Amino acid sequence: MDQSSQSPHECPVPAHGGLVQLHGGLLPQDPRHVYEALRRRWGAIAPVELAPGVGAWLVMGYQEALEVVWNERAFSSDARRWNSIIEGSLPEGSRLLAVLGRRPALNRLDDQAHRRQRQAVTETVNGVDLRRLRGAVRRQAETLVDGWDMNGTADLVTQYAHPLVWFAFRVLIGFPESEERRIAALLGSIAGAAHDAARAEAELMRTLHRLVAQKRDAPGPDLTSWLLAHSARLTEAEVAHDLAAILFTGGESTIGWISGTMRLLMDDARLNSAVAGGRMTVSDIADRALWDGSSIPNIAGRWARNDLVFAGCEVRAGDLLIPCLTAANTDLLVHDAGDLGRRAHLSWGTGSHGCPAKEAARSIAETAVDVLMRRLRLVRPGDRDTAVRRQPSLWSGTPDTLPVAFAPIRPGPNAPADVPAIPAVMGVPEKRQQDARAADSSPAQQAWAWWNSMNGW
Ligand code: HEM
Repeated sequence: MDQSSQSPHECPVPAHGGLVQLHGGLLPQDPRHVYEALRRRWGAIAPVELAPGVGAWLVMGYQEALEVVWNERAFSSDARRWNSIIEGSLPEGSRLLAVLGRRPALNRLDDQAHRRQRQAVTETVNGVDLRRLRGAVRRQAETLVDGWDMNGTADLVTQYAHPLVWFAFRVLIGFPESEERRIAALLGSIAGAAHDAARAEAELMRTLHRLVAQKRDAPGPDLTSWLLAHSARLTEAEVAHDLAAILFTGGESTIGWISGTMRLLMDDARLNSAVAGGRMTVSDIADRALWDGSSIPNIAGRWARNDLVFAGCEVRAGDLLIPCLTAANTDLLVHDAGDLGRRAHLSWGTGSHGCPAKEAARSIAETAVDVLMRRLRLVRPGDRDTAVRRQPSLWSGTPDTLPVAFAPIRPGPNAPADVPAIPAVMGVPEKRQQDARAADSSPAQQAWAWWNSMNGW
């Protein structure tokens, strides 16, 4: 088959080899092997099938992935362009829509509409007091380690990174402790492309809509209240969808980053001793972990604005392209060319949709690793566990478990007596005076009005 003129819509699904079925966004085996096999077979971009009759392009070349996220004139973030939706080949209720569906969230918007919501989210995230965030994460991390079995085994995902990161998001977003596990489980289903991902997304949105209404009436020291108070005058629906984008892009990825950094420190004794000896910092290792395995394996979609020939393939207007960060970061063109110092990895994304919360994510992840480095000695991989694992998905590179063994735990610092039950990482904004629905007359809102009215937003 001539790769240079292939289109996912014309590709028959071969019984073996060629077009790979990633149905529902699930990956059949070790994702790296799948990406490498696809790269060998197709080169920089490969046609894949996400559901029967629903094609997509997996973009694995570094340059090509960069082009897709940078070139907004050619590639849109707005799923309303998706030809599989327009042509009706994607069934309503498909689990793919939990991640790739159209919605008024900043990560699903283009141009002026995106800039308006992006500015609100960026300015709000920049309002987080990172010193206080690190302090809250450190205290919680110490408490988690204190609760471990003193004889030297633990699971760094289920007993550490997972509860720690969701604690941090509870503080940042301002949801109650009683909701923490349920919200984490819903996001796990969505990112894991589980069979019930669509139901999980609907439940998450109901929960966030309720939270936004509560914060409208009683603002708190959190991102939700500050988003409502922002001068962009986002509607309550927009705030709820932006919170979902924050939780979806930030939660599992930060858990994956912490566990990836610890894995690297355990696998490479030289790096471990360089950190212990002060020749490298936790920050250096965390950055290296982002090169080796992006904790967001694939960016959840861009859509071609027009027909074009891209990387030698005929891409139709409305085709879905998925920049594969794991494959792009390990593209030999950049990885082997001694280029690591000069080029950036793509794990934070780039361009106008690049991650706006790098410093907050770094504060959480580096504090988490730092506490482990101080409290545990001689950390090494533990016995393989037999727990049932989620199937790898396109949207999450986070392992379900990371068992470790270590020499007895070093004592932690005595917790200060005056630690508040809910630590605040920002101030409390004033209650918004005017009804949020007043914003519906803005030009950006008018553009969404037709869609909102169909969906009851
Ligand atoms: C506190 C933790 C985090 C928060 C609050 C957060 C928030 C966000 C938000 C709101 C966006 C959408 C930006 C837009 O579309 O304009 C985004 C994008 C992104 N984030 Fe983060 N993030 C966090 C952690 C991370 C981590 C740990 C990684 C991976 C190392 C990551 C990688 C990305 C990537 C790759 C994108 C770009 C997606 C795209 O181009 O469509 N984020 N993040």
